[in-house]
Amino acid sequence: MKTIDDLDVAGRRVFVRADLNVPLSGDGITDDGRIRAAVPTITKLAERGAKVIVASHLGRPKGAPDPQFSLRPVAARLGELLGKDVAFATDTVGDSAKATVAALADGEVTLLENLRFNAGETAKDDAERGAFADALAALADAYVGDGFGAVHRKHASVYDLPARLPHAAGGLIATEVGVLKKLTEDVARPYAVVLGGAKVSDKLGVIDHLLGKADRLLIGGGMAYTFLAAQGHEVGKSLLQEDQIPAVKEYLARAEKQGVEFVLPVDVVAAPDFPDLKAQAPTHPVVVPADAIPADVQGLDIGPETRKLFAAKLADAATVFWNGPMGVFEHPDYADGTRAVAQALLDSPAFTVVGGGDSAAAVRILGFDENAFGHISTGGGASLEYLEGKTLPGLAALED
Ligand code: 3PG
Repeated sequence: MKTIDDLDVAGRRVFVRADLNVPLSGDGITDDGRIRAAVPTITKLAERGAKVIVASHLGRPKGAPDPQFSLRPVAARLGELLGKDVAFATDTVGDSAKATVAALADGEVTLLENLRFNAGETAKDDAERGAFADALAALADAYVGDGFGAVHRKHASVYDLPARLPHAAGGLIATEVGVLKKLTEDVARPYAVVLGGAKVSDKLGVIDHLLGKADRLLIGGGMAYTFLAAQGHEVGKSLLQEDQIPAVKEYLARAEKQGVEFVLPVDVVAAPDFPDLKAQAPTHPVVVPADAIPADVQGLDIGPETRKLFAAKLADAATVFWNGPMGVFEHPDYADGTRAVAQALLDSPAFTVVGGGDSAAAVRILGFDENAFGHISTGGGASLEYLEGKTLPGLAALED
């Protein structure tokens, strides 16, 4: 895989596919981690005299412009972080993009509007994706893949465009791949993996793969209730994916055979209703045993005993990978479990990797110093698919 040092960029138009898919609320960007992660590569290219065309997706618009998914606020934040103006193109391959790119001087930066405003970006049809990639290629002389969070997507700007231009991997992709390699080749043991998040179905592939790799799997978040149900426990009104129970039962049995330890919650913080995240009003949670959740409540975080148990299971690990929050951390009544896991990672002497998306945002939103962790990945799904051993289209496209 070539790096940007191998590319001739001075005076040339360089297309940088970043992942600037940041969480937004009515008040703006709630976590700018992915924008900050994109800055070093953009800065390096601009300093070398490239005309830098940055492009990304944001959210999941349906292939047409949709103002709630506009990248305009991201352009403003990117400009602040770069310390220079970022010209914003109000389309992807139309008149605005063409004019904005044509007006770029060496060392200047532009951000195109959301790539997913064009149906060709995510099309399953190769020709439709290819046509959009052709239009993007016409804007640039070289391509830099640096959107690690999107490398698992076979999308026009991730997969098809690099084949049309001289290409290289940006610094972020190089760093992310370097770290994840450490978790797949010669991992230091004990290797503990903490998985959370809402749906067990999103994590089946990685659990399947990790059963042959990890020494301990700690399960929290919404997905834990399907595990508890698979063990025959009542889970009340908690999130439950009943159709996944057979798969989960099989994993539990396989883990026992292979000597992999599954660590499940022993108590949970529960309430009758899901909290109102907008109002943030105090709720009245109760702590209940994980093997007997009353019928009228739902589990919304791991309980105090589980936090201690998880911390103990991480204390002597040599490597820890964590993906997915332990509860509804966006509400203060249900943030302690996620906070406790983040703290346990910091207290452990292990090499710690926080895998993307919600868990990375949680670490920052809960006020932890992100530099204290071994690595915070910008890729949620991408880091999981990498650990599953899958071929990631955006990395494969940068190989030659
Ligand atoms: C992510 O948030 O994991 C990446 O930006 C990819 O987004 P997607 O799941 O909408 O493709």
